[in-house]
Amino acid sequence: MVNIVILAIESSCDDTSAAVIYDAKILANLTASQAVHQQWGGVVPELASRAHQINIVPVVDAALKKANVSMRDLRAVAFTRGPGLIGSLLVGVSFAKAFALALDIPLIEVNHMQAHVMAHFIDNRPGFPFLCLTVSGGHTQLVLVRDYLDMEVVGETLDDAAGEAFDKTAKLLGLPYPGGPLIDRYAAEGNPERFTFPEPQTSDFDFSFSGLKTSVLYFLQKEMKRNPMFVTENLPDLCAAIQRTIVNILIKKITRAALHFGVREVALAGGVSANRELRNRFAQLGSEMGWKTHIPPLEYCTDNAAMIAMAAHYKYLKGEFCGQDTEPLARYEIRSST
Ligand code: KG4
Ligand code: ZN
Repeated sequence: MVNIVILAIESSCDDTSAAVIYDAKILANLTASQAVHQQWGGVVPELASRAHQINIVPVVDAALKKANVSMRDLRAVAFTRGPGLIGSLLVGVSFAKAFALALDIPLIEVNHMQAHVMAHFIDNRPGFPFLCLTVSGGHTQLVLVRDYLDMEVVGETLDDAAGEAFDKTAKLLGLPYPGGPLIDRYAAEGNPERFTFPEPQTSDFDFSFSGLKTSVLYFLQKEMKRNPMFVTENLPDLCAAIQRTIVNILIKKITRAALHFGVREVALAGGVSANRELRNRFAQLGSEMGWKTHIPPLEYCTDNAAMIAMAAHYKYLKGEFCGQDTEPLARYEIRSST
């Protein structure tokens, strides 16, 4: 080992996170989440940027202390360049640049989506090639992973992300934001067969979730006209049906892509991988097909700086540094780096 100590910053959405990695081992991973968005039913970009501004110094400070690392030990500073909210990204990018300039150490820019995949290497070693489904409030992406930084997006959502589908349908049911975990909770007591919602027909490995939201809306409008208590009386069954539809779509696409690309290892990443039905069906799929399945601990599935640090470690090994003129990118495609 070569004593690579890196400080990593994640600020792409509403979590301000800092991590310290030492020779590919995470020493600290601390996140300040922003409760301020809950009352608005979704992330408010302006409020997110302001909260990052307040949180970033204490979070970095606490991460260095927890890791027992001083600023002088750091070999590089890594940051999320994108994709994400531009105002949120700017806080992390500017902080990282100032930090690197003051310490005279290199900067490493990291693609947030690539980092979600790299979270798999924190406590685990999936075998290459594998297929990773990254599902969160902002993304739904199927990634074919050939090597640590060599990955290709083979499918993604054409409209809403899977987490967004959970949150938006939950809102229609009168549930607070974020509704995904609540749908999961109510669905556990419901019958998924009582109601059915159509699954979209999308080509190859792409996803679409906006039709589900619309069909749930029309269905509820129709039923509520007949019985204003319809949602209250049927909440667990409605949640179970919505969850079943979303999970069906995800599992079908993973299966189709894994068979097409001939991979024997499949992985989940992102906050939606906390969903119990998805986890169960994913494990079942693995045992039926003889595929190895991987899901990182939840701390590394939701947005976090440890995954940024892990991506940065491999970029450091390849000498992939960036300049002070690097700008954040609201849209940032994963590109194979080999
Ligand atoms: O990765 P994440 O923490 O943040 C980003 O969106 O980047 O993911 C949050 C998303 C939200 O849409 C939330 O509703 C969803 O993940 N989620 C869940 C569950 N836990 C979180 N969706 C369904 N079931 C869950 N148990
Ligand atoms: Zn994310």
